[in-house]
Amino acid sequence: MSAASTPANSISLNVDLGDRSYPIHIGSGQISQVGIAQYIQGQKALIVTNTTIAPLYLQALIDQLPGVQIDTVILNDGEQYKNLDNLNTIFTALIENQHDRKTTLIALGGGVVGDMTGFAAASYQRGVPFIQVPTTLLAQVDSSVGGKTAVNHSLGKNMIGAFYQPQAVIIDTDTLSTLPDREFRAGLAEVIKYGLIVDAAFFDWLEQNAEALLARDSKALVYAIERSCINKAQVVSADETEQGVRAILNLGHTFGHAIETFQQYRGWLHGEAVAAGMVMAAELSVLAGTMSAADVTRARDLLIACGLPTQPPENMKADDFMALMVRDKKVLDGQLRLVLLNGIGVATVRADFELSWLQQILAEACTG
Ligand code: NAD
Ligand code: GLY
Repeated sequence: MSAASTPANSISLNVDLGDRSYPIHIGSGQISQVGIAQYIQGQKALIVTNTTIAPLYLQALIDQLPGVQIDTVILNDGEQYKNLDNLNTIFTALIENQHDRKTTLIALGGGVVGDMTGFAAASYQRGVPFIQVPTTLLAQVDSSVGGKTAVNHSLGKNMIGAFYQPQAVIIDTDTLSTLPDREFRAGLAEVIKYGLIVDAAFFDWLEQNAEALLARDSKALVYAIERSCINKAQVVSADETEQGVRAILNLGHTFGHAIETFQQYRGWLHGEAVAAGMVMAAELSVLAGTMSAADVTRARDLLIACGLPTQPPENMKADDFMALMVRDKKVLDGQLRLVLLNGIGVATVRADFELSWLQQILAEACTG
């Protein structure tokens, strides 16, 4: 990760990945100020968005692309639509409107739109460029950066996808003004994740600034997004395709994905499921002897202060978790691997935990 040149009023970072490197522009008014047209390589572009975001931001984005032939796909809104059927809607629009290999796809929306558009770009005619314009806090701090693209399968979350990096990530913090509170809080779970896995000083800052963040104080927000993107870009630059260290970005996700799949993607938000999952991972770390109970309390208290759940849904049993967790993408050669914490700010991926520890924390968490 390195700094790039930046217009006034904004911050630009660079994700360093050799010939797949790209900038992240962060700040107020970025959709209109960044000069998004510089990232369009041909004469055509397809903007993918959804029924909620289109009335809010689609025209503003189109206005920045005079002279480009724009087509649009407006998807149904919801995690339950992140599947192969709806992905096909994007391919149909591309083929019907004769988009060739020089077209550019633009994802305007949250992580659902971003993950689907990225996967469409990775596979349409074996790969066309795409740009991320994330409009949720979660997408701005996590899903738009790093090139993970995917759709869900009814049997498992994000099971079908590709690593495929965007040309640029354009984070317009003004879009957060219309984001519902629950979605905003879900994004904070991924922000807190960076403090827990790699950045103890940021965790301290979050404890002190949770109130300002919840009030959407613009300075605090830009700082939290910047610091999250710096942390993510560093991990991704070190391990683009998750051969090793990148897996720490999945703290709590094996538990969280089990919750989302159990609810068939119609219940808790991704960030909410991850919040509960991070507490379960922290509890497991206590049993593994690498984290103090006091640090788990700090993690739990910060999540609670941000209005996030710290226990699984009441109707989920330990067996439900076990049945779904064995299908996780971090299972290798039949062995479940989990991200554990060595205190706040240091994470490791481990397969050497006792199954009985996992059973114990699941039994304790699933008391509903
Ligand atoms: P989302 O995309 O479903 O967006 C949340 C809701 O907010 C939706 O209803 C959306 O229409 C609405 N919305 C978006 N922007 C808005 C705005 N500015 N104003 C008003 N409403 C707005 O959910 P999300 O939390 O952004 O993303 C979750 C998804 O991201 C999950 O599918 C998850 O698996 C994925 N994800 C991917 C990665 C990755 O590395 N690729 C990382 C984390 C999460
Ligand atoms: N959100 C996990 C990753 O990008 O690797």
